[in-house]
Amino acid sequence: MSKSRMKSSLYCSTALLILLAPTRWANRFAESRTSSHPALLLGTAWYPEQWPESRWETDLSLMHEAGIHVVRVGEFAWSRMESEEGHYDLDWLDRAIALAAKHQIYTVVGTPTAAPPAWLTQKYPETLRTAEDGRVVQHGNRQQFNWANPKYREFARKIAEQMAHRFGHNPNVLGWQIDNEYSEVSFDSRTRAQFQQWLKERYGTLDNLNARWTTEYWSQSYTAWDQIPIQVKYGNPGLLLSWMRFVSDTWRSYQKNQLDVIRANSDSGQFVTTNTMGAYDGFDHYTVLQDLDMAAWDDYVGEGHLDPVKNGAAHDLTRGFKEKNFWVMETQPGHVNWADINNSLDKGEVRAMAWHAIGHGADTVSYWQWRSAMNGQEQYHGTLLGADGTPVPLYPEVAQVGKEFEKASAVLAGTTVQSEVALLHSYESRWAIQWQPHNKNYDPKEEFLSYYGPLRAISQSVDILQPTSNLSHYKLVVAPGLNVLSEAAAKNLIAYVEGGGHLVLGQRSAMKDEDNSLQPERQPGPLAEFLGGRVEQYYALIGPVPLEGKWGAGECPLWAELLSAKNAATEVLMRYGKSNGWLDGQPAAITRQVGKGRVTYIGAWLDPKTMQQAAKWMTDTSAVKTPLPSVPEGVEVSVRQGEHGAVFVIINFAKTAQTFPLSRPMKDVLEGGEKTSVSLPVYGVAVLLAAH
Ligand code: GLA
Repeated sequence: MSKSRMKSSLYCSTALLILLAPTRWANRFAESRTSSHPALLLGTAWYPEQWPESRWETDLSLMHEAGIHVVRVGEFAWSRMESEEGHYDLDWLDRAIALAAKHQIYTVVGTPTAAPPAWLTQKYPETLRTAEDGRVVQHGNRQQFNWANPKYREFARKIAEQMAHRFGHNPNVLGWQIDNEYSEVSFDSRTRAQFQQWLKERYGTLDNLNARWTTEYWSQSYTAWDQIPIQVKYGNPGLLLSWMRFVSDTWRSYQKNQLDVIRANSDSGQFVTTNTMGAYDGFDHYTVLQDLDMAAWDDYVGEGHLDPVKNGAAHDLTRGFKEKNFWVMETQPGHVNWADINNSLDKGEVRAMAWHAIGHGADTVSYWQWRSAMNGQEQYHGTLLGADGTPVPLYPEVAQVGKEFEKASAVLAGTTVQSEVALLHSYESRWAIQWQPHNKNYDPKEEFLSYYGPLRAISQSVDILQPTSNLSHYKLVVAPGLNVLSEAAAKNLIAYVEGGGHLVLGQRSAMKDEDNSLQPERQPGPLAEFLGGRVEQYYALIGPVPLEGKWGAGECPLWAELLSAKNAATEVLMRYGKSNGWLDGQPAAITRQVGKGRVTYIGAWLDPKTMQQAAKWMTDTSAVKTPLPSVPEGVEVSVRQGEHGAVFVIINFAKTAQTFPLSRPMKDVLEGGEKTSVSLPVYGVAVLLAAH
């Protein structure tokens, strides 16, 4: 326990002392926003507006005891902040923030625009969104607003501006969350007109649009911009992709509307973020997050238990939005309320989940929520306090995490995840495949994970990046499903290989161009020449096809591409066995050394065992290292590097206790002392420092 926490615990130990906690203490805390809070923060979503003010002190003391350093407030409190048009009241929030500071708790302020008040949507019904079926969504839930509506944006900007004036220079406010989990869009006629205008700006002329979307097909040609519909499935692939780009650009401008007034009225030390949803693909996150300071996401397991591969990929994806450390803005205290079966995570699993986030580059883990509202839609959701205001059984486990975060903060301060392997991810490719999966079992997320899992297990660290990112320092770059390949991305990949990198393209790569049209060359389009081979034909499989070659004998369960090697230097790595006649004996994976670089194409969806061998080959060929070798199966290792050395976060997700030796002694950050081996119970966590 750090000295400051010990000292402040004393303040919190009796009600009297709580009341007497000196303002001087609060002020000193206030002065120190940017420099002296622990590097790892534990947080919770707190809704002071739902409780009598007389209760706040008790809640904050309990938070402090649990080691909570940050609360997120305000994100659904619009009707309290502006109970009538233009009548703002932020005094209560100011008091809540000050009281939190008195308990050494910082605040993140959320703008409340995901939940407009009833007076607003009643007086200005055009601010309500229209669902795809034409129904205007009503008040009573949340996210009923139209993200493209100028009137709504006017109100959103005003409330954000009021808040920024009030809290933008408050040293106890660490930063801002804009809105909450962007997702719902609108299909009203004004939004459609905006979309048509957007198309006009992008394509310039209807002739150009018609040509690029091949609208001669099925007599789709447009002779006026206002003929163009909104379609979200079964439409022309160019139209579908354009709509999603418009959706993304509109979220970006929706966000910028608030971001501009926050930035103009706040200290530069306050970050601005929004909370995204992991694998959710309702907009292009690379487009929307480019204007923000930091990425943050809401990490929920829902039904079942933490899948470290799936969840780890979501962390790494989020880290890749800004290519730096991020926050888990919300996570479940035990269980949620929205899954089919809202089972609780097991004892120890919540702690493991918190450390899992840290290992993957999170600097904050924040629980949703502190205490359940007495009424409202989420009465059954997990919390840290019960409805009676006293701790639930999980509270001590979270308090342990709080103490551990404090202990580990000095060592983890300034550390980042540094990977030798990058996986390329593209929303456009995911959408394109989802619109035309060709095999109903082809899920681009699963396909991505089939590569991510074994590559991450070997390298213990993977970056997930958009295809136009700077790739020059990676030893291995894998693009599992880069179906839509822009010219810029193709150039970037070619430059990477020319610079000596190893590029691996997975199945369905480079089939489409920026308009979601077919590339004029066979796959992998502009990269085919480099590869010295191409895809002759693709086959959706109804049953598994055998495979054999460098990665052993295995199966291709649902997708097979028949490859050809056109260049004498192109090597065949795997071949299909006997199946439909077309594939029999044909190449399934090929590779070619080009200068110092290499291009590999894998046309078959590989079974997990074969994929493991493929991953081993990919990493061996690219000289990718395993930082902590000989780790038993089910134990996940993450590494963060910093000035003190490498910090390993090791978690036992196996079903039994695990022990393994370390190749060199390391400092045990949580338990103290030096370790030459690691012993972990189920869900056990070790944080070890390998000093330089
Ligand atoms: C989302 C929302 C929260 C809450 C949680 C419940 O993440 O942002 O307001 O509804 O879900 O799991």
